[in-house]
Amino acid sequence: MSDKTLTQLCQTAGCAAKIGPGVLAEVVKNLPRYENKNLLLGFDTSDDACVYDLGDGRYLIETIDFFPPMVDDPYVFGQIAAANALSDVYAMGGKPFLAMNLLCFPTCLELERVKAILQGGHDKAVEAKTVIAGGHTIDDFTPKYGLSVSGFAASDSLLTNAGAKEGDVLVLTKPLGTGILTTALKAEMLEDKDYQALIKSMTKLNNIDLSGIEVHACTDVTGFSLMGHGREMADGANVTIEIFAERVPQFDAALNFARMGMIPAGAYRNREFLKDKVVCDEMPLELTDVLFDPQTSGGLLIALPEKEAAKIDAPIIGQVLPRGQKSIHVRKTA
Ligand code: CO
Ligand code: CO
Ligand code: CO
Repeated sequence: MSDKTLTQLCQTAGCAAKIGPGVLAEVVKNLPRYENKNLLLGFDTSDDACVYDLGDGRYLIETIDFFPPMVDDPYVFGQIAAANALSDVYAMGGKPFLAMNLLCFPTCLELERVKAILQGGHDKAVEAKTVIAGGHTIDDFTPKYGLSVSGFAASDSLLTNAGAKEGDVLVLTKPLGTGILTTALKAEMLEDKDYQALIKSMTKLNNIDLSGIEVHACTDVTGFSLMGHGREMADGANVTIEIFAERVPQFDAALNFARMGMIPAGAYRNREFLKDKVVCDEMPLELTDVLFDPQTSGGLLIALPEKEAAKIDAPIIGQVLPRGQKSIHVRKTA
């Protein structure tokens, strides 16, 4: 039996373990395609999930996400991994209904901990009214868990990351800084109140009720950071996004840890990858570190008219402008 904690079995944690966007684009670039006219969204638009037109007014949404633990509590890890995987369906304006487990664990890990991971995932799926109907398990040095998820959206309620319009405002539904705080957690520097805030946010479903609200674009903020996913939103609609750094919600402890250099490697990768796309005004570095921080089970970034934004319980963090030179312009204040 292993006497190691879950995170000691891992090199990287959560969505920070994602392969960098530059590497990924290179790998999938020249793959041969089998075309199908019912496939509305696939590789090409870097959206959250693929979308398949069932031809009866419904769209089928398919997504998959799994990663190594960022917390030692196996039950909490299971909840986070499931909330994160389900999120891509919500980000497309859909509702999940069916899921499968993906699980890797070393045989030295006690079965009690493996069961607790699956129980966490199961409980989140139930909360999301989603059936977990099976799965696949691999013996692996590093534990990993997640779900493949299927959802439906009515064809008129589908949301993509590409519909932002000039004059829209942007809201963000969860605080930033999960990568920074989990880095501090691994260094045993995170206080309990900050840990509680972190897991409360990461286990929270993104099942925000958007019915009756005019939404133009939506994506969830995960491993590529607010800047990375915001960049996809800006380029997808050929607009420039302006972000007000001081308005962006973040965990209480995030700025302080960023100032101390508790920054995951993924944040540097994101910053480097986006250096030609994002311009930041003069401001303390830690204010922008959070913007490049890879998020695990992050919130929804939503573009919508300002009068609609009041209907969502989330702060306005920026606005959509006509296309300028860069995809994103970060200002200190509004
Ligand atoms: Co996503
Ligand atoms: Co995803
Ligand atoms: Co199988």
